[in-house]
Amino acid sequence: MKTIYLMLLALAGAPAADEKEARLLPEGAGKEIAGRICLNCHDSGNFRKARWSSEEWSDSVADMVERGAKGTPAEIDAVVAYLAKNFGKGAPVRINTAPFAEIKVVLGFTVAEVRAVLEYREKNGELKSFEELLKVPGIDAAKAEAQKARITF
Ligand code: HEC
Repeated sequence: MKTIYLMLLALAGAPAADEKEARLLPEGAGKEIAGRICLNCHDSGNFRKARWSSEEWSDSVADMVERGAKGTPAEIDAVVAYLAKNFGKGAPVRINTAPFAEIKVVLGFTVAEVRAVLEYREKNGELKSFEELLKVPGIDAAKAEAQKARITF
């Protein structure tokens, strides 16, 4: 009985995966709403790996509403604006908060390279510079160099 109680306590104390993902979304107007509406059915990789125009985001969010995403019209507009601003064409990858899919798809890193970045982040905290990224074991320097303009810290 006591064990079960302790297990429940531990579960209650651990932040849910989607809470963590919501926190890691880029700062700015609409972040809180996007975290609340867009992480109910899937993780943030689904949308953070995309780089779309406002129109494309508008279509994508409308598609999600059809699938069951809930928000007032004003909230939906705010989410579209947030996504278009932070995940528009050419938007950089925030290497310290980007999930697996975003690093892989947008930067073209291999699965092993993405894992290396995530493990490094986990162990050492935020990467401070591009030079530090190049020192992550297993990163192909030439490939990272080619993507330098698309990476922010
Ligand atoms: C009611 C559940 C639900 C909610 C809430 C939801 N989605 Fe989805 N989403 C899905 C399903 C189901 C899929 C397709 C299966 C998958 O990829 O997981 C999907 C897939 C996606 C994809 C990939 C689609 C593609 O064509 O590649 C994107 C992008 C996406 N969602 C964005 C969002 C955004 C942005 C929000 C918040 C506005 C959101 N989703 C909220 C259910 C939802």
